[in-house]
Amino acid sequence: MDLGLKDRVAIVTGGSMGLGRAVARELARERARVVIAARNEQRLQRAAEELRRETGGNVLAVRADMTRADDIRALVEQAVDRWGGVDVAFANAGGPPGTRYESTSPEQVERAVELNLMSTVRLAQEVTPHMRQKGWGRFIALTSVSVKQPLPGLILSNTARAAVVGWVKTMATELAPHGITCNVVAPGYMHTGRVEDLAAERAEHEQRPLAEVLDEMGKRIPAGRMGNPEELAAVVAFLASERASYVTGTTIQVDGGYVQGLL
Ligand SMILES: NC(=O)c1ccc[n+]([C@@H]2O[C@H](COP(=O)([O-])OP(=O)(O)OC[C@H]3O[C@@H](n4cnc5c(N)ncnc54)[C@H](OP(=O)(O)O)[C@@H]3O)[C@@H](O)[C@H]2O)c1
Repeated sequence: MDLGLKDRVAIVTGGSMGLGRAVARELARERARVVIAARNEQRLQRAAEELRRETGGNVLAVRADMTRADDIRALVEQAVDRWGGVDVAFANAGGPPGTRYESTSPEQVERAVELNLMSTVRLAQEVTPHMRQKGWGRFIALTSVSVKQPLPGLILSNTARAAVVGWVKTMATELAPHGITCNVVAPGYMHTGRVEDLAAERAEHEQRPLAEVLDEMGKRIPAGRMGNPEELAAVVAFLASERASYVTGTTIQVDGGYVQGLL
């Protein structure tokens, strides 16, 4: 299937590692011009070089902290300066820490809202004027299966990410007449460095081999394993594509069957 992404300009935030990086790679393979953003400059530049080498594509690295409005504005400006517009935006950043209701402070909630909700809000409001100019755009926000089935011990993520769905769903309705689709992807357990670090902490705490903990995490999923970042990236590339022109306002989980709800 030709996804029609050649020469489209795509911004992928949180693009130096894990899920964001897999999305950037998939879009670059489809010959989109990709701008990746993250905070750690060295890791970001290294990722951009590797992506160029792996895909032969155009990849620009722009350092940006998604909790800073100025950084988001400058990121979009650089994409527009370099390639004349923005067609696709993938809103992604790190996750908030795991906490439980009784031990969660209002300040932690505010930080989670900045990290996951406000970063999405700000990126959306910076990119969509450029999409409206062209009458074409794809906005895709990363959340988690927690927006369909809240996860124990992750009250910050469960709360801030649910608001992202409300935001994107509303955007989708208002922007549909302008050729802009807005969707949410909700990954389950995907095998990234971050998940491996969390599993390693648990393995150490419980004095068990890492492989055993990872295996156990996989067995809780109907597919019997964790997902690969590439399996999320494939869905994002489709949502970003010309071919997904009539898909908007949806939240699609990519979770190997983990969520048990009907919708
Ligand atoms: N992996 C999973 O199974 C899974 C499942 C559901 C949801 N998620 C969520 O998906 C997101 C990505 O997860 P991942 O596993 O890919 O994590 P990861 O491997 O740790 O990658 C996170 C990426 O985001 C960047 N980042 C973090 N904070 C940022 C900020 N404030 N501004 C800009 N960039 C930032 C990181 O680079 P810098 O640190 O250099 O900024 C890195 O490039 C997280 O929100 C996570 O909670 C993951």
